[in-house]
Amino acid sequence: MAHPRVTIVGATGAVGKVALTVLEERAFPMESLRLTASPRSVGRTVTFKGEELTVEATTPAVFAESDIAFISANDDISRDMALAAKERGCVVIDDSGVWRMDPEVPLVVPEINADDVDAHNGILAIPNCSTTPLVMALDALRQASPIRRVIAATYQSVTGTGSAALAELEEQSRDYFAGNEARTDQYPHPIAFNLLPHVGSFRDGGHTSEEMKMLNETRKILHEPGLPVSATCVRVPVRVCHSEAVNIEFERPISPGEARELLANYPGIVVVDDPATNAYPMPLDGEGKDEVFVGRIREDVALPNGLALWLVSDNLRKGAATNAVQIAEEVVARGLWRYGAAKPAVEATA
Ligand SMILES: NC(=O)c1ccc[n+]([C@@H]2O[C@H](COP(=O)([O-])OP(=O)(O)OC[C@H]3O[C@@H](n4cnc5c(N)ncnc54)[C@H](OP(=O)(O)O)[C@@H]3O)[C@@H](O)[C@H]2O)c1
Repeated sequence: MAHPRVTIVGATGAVGKVALTVLEERAFPMESLRLTASPRSVGRTVTFKGEELTVEATTPAVFAESDIAFISANDDISRDMALAAKERGCVVIDDSGVWRMDPEVPLVVPEINADDVDAHNGILAIPNCSTTPLVMALDALRQASPIRRVIAATYQSVTGTGSAALAELEEQSRDYFAGNEARTDQYPHPIAFNLLPHVGSFRDGGHTSEEMKMLNETRKILHEPGLPVSATCVRVPVRVCHSEAVNIEFERPISPGEARELLANYPGIVVVDDPATNAYPMPLDGEGKDEVFVGRIREDVALPNGLALWLVSDNLRKGAATNAVQIAEEVVARGLWRYGAAKPAVEATA
């Protein structure tokens, strides 16, 4: 078998669908592709490269005949199915928040810490979709000076919650103009024409889980365990793309020009920064693209050695599916997908 047998768990979801597109676009080498989802979707067909694939149930048996699984469903499925896959010798690239901070699980943005893939023990994780673009910008800029402190405010799209939240935004928008009361299912308040300073769940101290992910995951990916990162995460009525206003304090001064050059030369980052022509990154421009877009790069007048910037990134692509496929590419390139003991050809029971 020259290429891995691949399974996407959650193939009918917001990220899963984009993962199919990304696998095709990047011509990811595969022996076969299987798709699984919830019992609701079993039997549905999905077209991949002109071929109709039937969505299967998500059972451990699927992994006995898979070499790489992208798990993109929800925390419960990730918790159970990642272990089931690993036990069957299938390497997992997990999209959920369940495994990211496990010391045995590499948390990878390949542009930054691809070598962490080498230490995988059957499960690898992608970061949270707000963390990924932030760490890429920080990694570019720390080449000029160590970072002392990061403050970020996020503006996160509804697809960060999944496809049901996008449907809710669309429905609430129609109801708003029709004068109907908003039905709220996905969030505690209406999201259409509103902002919710509430992403994830509230924790002790008043932070949200999303804000703590931005602190902890940034430290793990950058290998900077003491880096102070303070985030305020806000859900906004945008379809796709997370945006962030970021203020960074450095040990040494970095001019906006120097920062622009470092960012522009970094793989996967595009600088869009020309105030004279109103050019700056926006979600509508970033949707469907893999790059992280950075602009509004300027001195932070409230901080010594400070810079302020604005970034935009498609949460479903670099924030999820593209990063996951890039990790799989690293796993394959390093010959690390033949994991664990030899597999039985067919598993007798689920
Ligand atoms: N959305 C983002 O921007 C983003 C970014 C980074 C990471 N993630 C993570 O990626 C994962 C997927 O997110 P999403 O936004 O794609 O969510 P989503 O749109 O709600 O899709 C969820 C997927 O999981 C499947 N699923 C639900 N319950 C299941 C079950 N009991 N067994 C098997 N499959 C089940 C769904 O199948 P049905 O269609 O049959 O219901 C669907 O395919 C989550 O862990 C999320 O935290 C998301």
